[in-house]
Amino acid sequence: MTKLRSVWFVCALGWLGVMPTWADAPVDSDQAAKLIRMVRQDCGSCHGMRLTGGLGPALTPQAMREMPVESIAATIYHGRPGTPMPPWRAIINETQAQWIAEQLQAGFPQELAERTSR
Ligand code: HEC
Repeated sequence: MTKLRSVWFVCALGWLGVMPTWADAPVDSDQAAKLIRMVRQDCGSCHGMRLTGGLGPALTPQAMREMPVESIAATIYHGRPGTPMPPWRAIINETQAQWIAEQLQAGFPQELAERTSR
């Protein structure tokens, strides 16, 4: 009986441990640093080092303010089928896509990465 109860206890702990990966946690500064690095490097390879456009269109605040933040986030999360714009849902969650969309509209930060890690 005691043994059975402790098995349940361990299961419950395991379940709680898995919880945070189910719910989209808000973007903290650690995550922000990673997302900024990802956008600058991976998105930059198509949208330009300064996000002013390349293979993909400019992601400057001027360009992004023309679009509702939800459709920017959806474009990032789902990609644009039939175009080179890939979906990012395997790498980021919807909260993170929304965060990137908001940052693009506001003017994407340069380098939170280096500053916060010190
Ligand atoms: C392999 C190249 C490639 C990569 C990598 C890429 N994109 Fe794109 N992206 C494109 C292309 C091409 C389009 C234009 C699609 C179209 O014709 O509608 C686009 C469109 C967009 C749009 C819509 C812009 C508009 O004016 O309609 C947004 C927002 C966007 N990308 C954000 C991102 C973000 C953020 C990342 C990184 C997480 C990213 N992209 C990575 C190629 C890329």
